[in-house]
Amino acid sequence: MAETTAPESGIDPISGFVIKPGFETVRAHCTACHSGKLVTQNHMSRERWLSTIRWMQKTQNLWPLPQEEQILDYLSANYGERTIGRRAQLPTHLMPPRAK
Ligand code: HEC
Repeated sequence: MAETTAPESGIDPISGFVIKPGFETVRAHCTACHSGKLVTQNHMSRERWLSTIRWMQKTQNLWPLPQEEQILDYLSANYGERTIGRRAQLPTHLMPPRAK
């Protein structure tokens, strides 16, 4: 892996994860049972990521995660709620309709 140069986009071509701090840990734990895509297509708050992890631990045999804090940091920074995420704002035509 170390010798593979990251593509310009900073996306790991195999898992589809953004290459940011914590990436290695998340890739190691979160692609064992399902594709990374199931993770990256989601955008949720830290709280909801945590409850998703708890749900998998309760019902899907997900093991305890000693690096849980790091995983949550990574997920909420890169796959956080769109409106408060650190990623650039989506163009208006790609935004979901505003709840009124
Ligand atoms: C031990 C197996 C296992 C591991 C490891 C695992 N998951 Fe899952 N996960 C599942 C299963 C099973 C599902 C349900 C798949 C389905 O519905 O097709 C799931 C579903 C999901 C979903 C979709 C939840 C929804 O509400 O639709 C997300 C998001 C997710 N996992 C994130 C993660 C993340 C993040 C990690 C790493 C911390 C992870 N998973 C590691 C088993 C696992």
